[in-house]
Amino acid sequence: MIEAIVEDLPVKQRLFADLEEIVGDDTVLATNTSSLSVTAIAGGLRLPGRFVGLHFFNPAPLLPLVEVVSGFATDPDVATRAYATVEGWGKTPVRCADTPGFIVNRVARPFYAEALRVYEEGAADPATIDAALRECGGFRMGPFELTDLIGQDVNEAVTRSVWDSFHQDPKFTPRSRSAARRVGAARPQVGARLVLVRGGRGAARAAHGGAGRGARADRRAR
Ligand SMILES: NC(=O)c1ccc[n+]([C@@H]2O[C@H](COP(=O)([O-])OP(=O)(O)OC[C@H]3O[C@@H](n4cnc5c(N)ncnc54)[C@H](O)[C@@H]3O)[C@@H](O)[C@H]2O)c1
Repeated sequence: MIEAIVEDLPVKQRLFADLEEIVGDDTVLATNTSSLSVTAIAGGLRLPGRFVGLHFFNPAPLLPLVEVVSGFATDPDVATRAYATVEGWGKTPVRCADTPGFIVNRVARPFYAEALRVYEEGAADPATIDAALRECGGFRMGPFELTDLIGQDVNEAVTRSVWDSFHQDPKFTPRSRSAARRVGAARPQVGARLVLVRGGRGAARAAHGGAGRGARADRRAR
């Protein structure tokens, strides 16, 4: 059973306490948390050995990677079975320890935060930053497109969780939610498509038009 509810430790703990009352003892319980401690979520369970992290990436039907996270109490056999199950789905599991943000979200935090800083300092607008990373840097999505897809509220919760877990290490300092909101306002149009101006190194401009992409950001950047 894989949980994917709001990124909030007490809420997830409560859910699993309730679930344990209704599932059999041999049911493997997994969380899709992006950043919370798997050990902490399992802390109140009667059988914490059957608990494991299975962190999918958005959009889950397209992205093969799944982080298989062993908490302090996770039974190694449970982690092995979870890994094999993920592999059987044709996905690409990687094992990792229960450290804040695991692998990808930890590495991604400075990527998002630095992009917001670049924008806040007026170096470039979000569209240009996305275009530079996507079309010149070879990333599939720019940092603003990607955090729109994740959901600015979910992304902020993950950033705060990683920051808190590292005892407010300045390296992980969250940018304010209002900064993300300003990014939404700064977009020329929801779903604006970016076209790189060929021949002009680093130059990019926003081509207005299209719809859809960014709608989630509008809904969420609150
Ligand atoms: N958004 C992403 O890109 C992404 C990627 C990987 C993992 N995750 C993780 O997946 C989880 C969900 O993320 P999301 O983006 O879908 O969040 P979301 O806010 O879009 O959705 C969370 C859902 O959980 C529901 N919910 C809240 N409390 C609940 C409860 N007690 N019982 C049942 N349902 C409850 C909410 O009503 C909402 O529908 C989080 O742990 C997040 O970190 C998100």
